[in-house]
Amino acid sequence: MPETQHNNGATPVWDIPVRFFHWTLVLLIAFSWLSGEMGWMEWHLYSGYAVLALVLFRVIWGFVGSTHARFSSFIYGPGAVIAYIRTLPSRTAAKFAGHNPLGGISVVLILLCVLVQAGTGLFSNDDILTEGPLYKHVTKELSDWLTTIHKYNFNLLLALIGVHISAVLFYLFYKSENLIKPMFTGCKHLPAGTAPATMRSALLAVILLAVCAAGVWALIRI
Ligand code: HEM
Repeated sequence: MPETQHNNGATPVWDIPVRFFHWTLVLLIAFSWLSGEMGWMEWHLYSGYAVLALVLFRVIWGFVGSTHARFSSFIYGPGAVIAYIRTLPSRTAAKFAGHNPLGGISVVLILLCVLVQAGTGLFSNDDILTEGPLYKHVTKELSDWLTTIHKYNFNLLLALIGVHISAVLFYLFYKSENLIKPMFTGCKHLPAGTAPATMRSALLAVILLAVCAAGVWALIRI
């Protein structure tokens, strides 16, 4: 249903599932990095399974979730992206209830990159002790190739995260708009007359996340 309730004059935009997804993903990617570097491979694999379940959930939520969680709400055409880029030098932030057109592109790229990272990890090997759960289904050559992608793609992911955090800081310091707080509170101060968002049930999200976790659990056992 459309969410019209205002919280201190702020309008709900990010539902609980999107916020949970975001901050859990941040923690899991940091932990995956740490565990990979430290050689805590058992934990690295568990962390990868959790990332996979989380991102699969976010892709489904991008079709059935609340208004601003949906891909259809933040994938813009080239004209809108170019028009948005022209507004970047202005010190006044163009107001978007959800992701702006460039932010939308970065969300899709980050999700794809994380999927490639977790997906290739399933088939990877380190030539010593550790093999991904699906290693046994591919040749050693293919596993080595996917392991190489797993290593290089992580650098791409770090670059995307670097651009993402720089964009958020650019908004904070150059445009004087704090986008970080709404990723915690879920609410933004928007111009009067902004169409209210339709918020979907968090229980539906819990069920979908459980289904994604079960799917990953089944996948690593085939
Ligand atoms: C591992 C690091 C990170 C990853 C992989 C990541 C990924 C993402 C993704 C996928 C989204 C889209 C959320 C959705 O629609 O579900 C997003 C949005 C967002 N992230 Fe991050 N993020 C990271 C770190 C951070 C950090 C450290 C901050 C704060 C300084 C941050 C602030 C934000 C904000 C403010 C948004 C919403 C942007 C908007 O208003 O359009 N992120 N992030």
